[in-house]
Amino acid sequence: MTNNIKSYLETERMNAVFFSILYICIGFIWWLIALTVGLPLTLLLMLSDKFRSSFFTWVYVNIAVPLQRREVYVIRNKVFQILKDSLVNKNSLLPLEILEIGVGHGPNLKFYPEKCNLTVLDKNKYFEKEFTKNKNKYPQVSYQKTVIQPAECMKGVEDNSFDVVVSTFFHCSCDDSAAVLREVKRVLKPGGKYLFLDHTGFPEGDIGLFIQRFFNPLWSLIFDGCYLDKNPSKQIKEAGFSDVQFLKHISLNFRRYLLRHQVLGIATK
Ligand SMILES: C[S@@+](CC[C@H](N)C(=O)[O-])C[C@H]1O[C@@H](n2cnc3c(N)ncnc32)[C@H](O)[C@@H]1O
Repeated sequence: MTNNIKSYLETERMNAVFFSILYICIGFIWWLIALTVGLPLTLLLMLSDKFRSSFFTWVYVNIAVPLQRREVYVIRNKVFQILKDSLVNKNSLLPLEILEIGVGHGPNLKFYPEKCNLTVLDKNKYFEKEFTKNKNKYPQVSYQKTVIQPAECMKGVEDNSFDVVVSTFFHCSCDDSAAVLREVKRVLKPGGKYLFLDHTGFPEGDIGLFIQRFFNPLWSLIFDGCYLDKNPSKQIKEAGFSDVQFLKHISLNFRRYLLRHQVLGIATK
């Protein structure tokens, strides 16, 4: 009996030693990674705009997009269906002059109608290489040029020059949506369409909004100024378009909690 107790106590002692060493090792590795990777990465993201833009490009193309490809495909398809429907009787407009702002690596290329002339604009030059690789896969789109510039001030883009302006997942990271919408209206031809899709914040008072705001500082650092709780609906409504049609669409499942709500629609100049 005494031997049993002794051996039990011995095993307990060994377990305690083993787990103490394990916790110390995990703690040590945690701090090592935090100090050698986490801290320098955070400082670089905070201090260098260039690093933040190139890091975001890599994360977006290689991690964020593949992770949510299927769900986002459905929503993109839906928003471009709205465009097709709105152009049903406008075949005479072909080829359509289209401008996409905040084009990124060009995930919308596959949705563009045949015979369109596409000009793209983005403020982040690191996306250009990815976009060039992507655009060669879609010969139905007649690519015109890439403008590297903030959409708040589209110098060199003529007034009344586009039939359609497109932006997807753009307003969440844009500095001044009202200024961009003024520019969108300026460059659209009379009767031209502005097609938009964005993820938005949860309604006021929802726990989801609290969670989005909790993650905002880290999220905007990694995703180059993207804020989870932004909602461009009000600014689009007040931008002075002759008609704005919203199609609210909540499709993403619980796993995508942070990006669950989407706003999409079409506005007419
Ligand atoms: C989240 S990404 C979306 C990319 C792509 N439109 C998509 O649907 O996946 C946002 C893009 O908008 C660009 N962007 C953000 N603010 C901008 C601005 N003010 N002017 C031009 N581009 C901007 C970013 O550089 C980035 O390429």
